[in-house]
Amino acid sequence: MRKMLIKSLAVGAAAVLALTACSNDREKSGGDTPAGGKGFAKDALIGVALPSKTSENWVLAGDLFTNGLKEAGFQSDVQYAGASTTVADQQAQITAMTTKGAKVIVIGATDAAQLSTQVAAAKQAGAVVVAYDRLITNTPDVDYYIAFDNFKVGQLQGQALLDGMKAKKPTGPYTIELFSGSPDDNNSGVFFNGAMDVLKPEIDKGNVVVGSGQTDVKQTATQGWKAENAQSRMDSLLNSTYNGGKTLDGVLSPNDTLARAIITSIKGAGKPIPVVTGQDSEVESVKSIMAGEQYSTINKDTRKLVAETINMVKTLQTGSDPQVNDTKSYNNGVKVVPAYLLPPLIVTKANAAEAYANDPKLSPLTK
Ligand code: BGC
Repeated sequence: MRKMLIKSLAVGAAAVLALTACSNDREKSGGDTPAGGKGFAKDALIGVALPSKTSENWVLAGDLFTNGLKEAGFQSDVQYAGASTTVADQQAQITAMTTKGAKVIVIGATDAAQLSTQVAAAKQAGAVVVAYDRLITNTPDVDYYIAFDNFKVGQLQGQALLDGMKAKKPTGPYTIELFSGSPDDNNSGVFFNGAMDVLKPEIDKGNVVVGSGQTDVKQTATQGWKAENAQSRMDSLLNSTYNGGKTLDGVLSPNDTLARAIITSIKGAGKPIPVVTGQDSEVESVKSIMAGEQYSTINKDTRKLVAETINMVKTLQTGSDPQVNDTKSYNNGVKVVPAYLLPPLIVTKANAAEAYANDPKLSPLTK
């Protein structure tokens, strides 16, 4: 099941309909071995192209890359895509990194499917291309993928939603709404499919009902991962489906920024806060969890992900192949991209203190 689901790419393919998709092409594609680029000067230039700052993890990643690469002896060029012309910005940044002779280009894609020309040129110039956190699709020119296990993130969110609702009300049926992330981010579909892997059997049994009937990823999507888009969709759902006294028991939210927007909408309508999931362990959401509002988040420690990415760069510098632990799950439409996946952790009020014990910023919030 996991195999079948995780291969599905952005937008339409992430629809619940993807549950029935066939996965034969996964085996067909086979991974290309990384071309050239390995074994370069110890102080080589490393490019890092990040998307716009749609959540705290991206804000943290920029400084961590700048400092970490410097400490490791490399030169770095760390860029963010702007807030509006994100795709064009990122394309131009990658091209500039290639022109400047970057030996590795680490990319957190703004739009998974819009970078094939730029990464082809980077490879042509001898750089290694690493997709960071978000997969780059429809191109043979991505060598490695490094991320937290996105499908697992979705499964943990789906399970937390069920557990949270059960803790409040021991028996169903439970009424929920579903939100997903931006359709241009390949992760959005993977998170959604992971969550549906857990929720769909309950929906099929009638234990869980999607009140609005909106289960297609086109209906649940949140363009640009923008809080205002999630808030206005929640406003409309409250008006269309919950204004007659129907109870909303839970909301699947793919991340913390959107979870808080959903909660703001529900509070604004004067309704009780249902069980709302999240992701990213953002400061305001950890506070909300401790205050008993948002139910859960996911801990994907950005410090770890950046450190592992820099380890990958160091290994490439010596001319060796970096470690991967998944050579099956991430078919980008052209090839299976060898991946190094880290385990995500579900966090609720119950385990927050333990989960953030080694995080100086979040730990004090759990006391
Ligand atoms: C990341 C999430 C983040 C989202 C919005 C995703 O690709 O994996 O952690 O919440 O982007 O920035």
